[in-house]
Amino acid sequence: MDDEKRITTCNRVAYEKAADNYFAGTKELFDDDVRDFCRRLLLTSVKGSDIVEIGCGPGHDAEKMRRTGMNVLATDYCQPLLNIAQMQYPDLNTTRMDVTKIGLNENSCDGVFGYGVFHHVPPSLAAATTQRIHDILRPRGVLVMCLLGSTQFDRRIVANWGEIPNNPLQFEYFTPDQIESYLRQAGFASVEFFRESCAAYDNAPEFRVHKIFAFQVRAMKGSN
Ligand SMILES: C[S@@+](CC[C@H](N)C(=O)[O-])C[C@H]1O[C@@H](n2cnc3c(N)ncnc32)[C@H](O)[C@@H]1O
Repeated sequence: MDDEKRITTCNRVAYEKAADNYFAGTKELFDDDVRDFCRRLLLTSVKGSDIVEIGCGPGHDAEKMRRTGMNVLATDYCQPLLNIAQMQYPDLNTTRMDVTKIGLNENSCDGVFGYGVFHHVPPSLAAATTQRIHDILRPRGVLVMCLLGSTQFDRRIVANWGEIPNNPLQFEYFTPDQIESYLRQAGFASVEFFRESCAAYDNAPEFRVHKIFAFQVRAMKGSN
């Protein structure tokens, strides 16, 4: 199996096994401030109402955006998490989709939202994935993502994801410069970075020890 296929499959299995625990951990959203910030970044700049969320997990952000009147398609490659999203939010439109193999039409949405997903994309697929995200956006479409970076590591494997023994999950810690270069190469006309943080991130022992930080990016497609 290719290295990138192995990583994607291994990560998907890790999320499948940990789906219930992941959902339990998001019932009280400890990073609500950062999520609000990201949703606002998108909702205040998007020109139309068709939004695709990539890596939606239990669907909390997708549902919040839907309730503002947006037409949201919540996507994830982890079926158990999509089932949870659908059960929690029956009016949410969900579909299974691997972000590294986006199967949506070009020029078919106004906004793409990704909270905590791009840092699972294998580096060898990052440029092509960014290009597909760009291409599904309509002119003047907006992408907003929140990612984790680290000043210590390029990548890290968490061995027991979701507190399940031997359930490895791989994180790719792209730098903002790398992300900017993927976005510019894909053709995004403007790229802005933000460092909205919250106490839960700043104080998390895991984040401190491994010098992990959250950052956000908003990128806009040009008008033609
Ligand atoms: C850290 S969780 C974030 C979930 C949700 N956005 C949230 O904030 O709660 C990462 C999510 O991305 C999904 N994911 C990871 N790699 C993916 C891929 N290649 N395609 C689609 N979803 C992916 C996982 O299944 C998981 O739901």
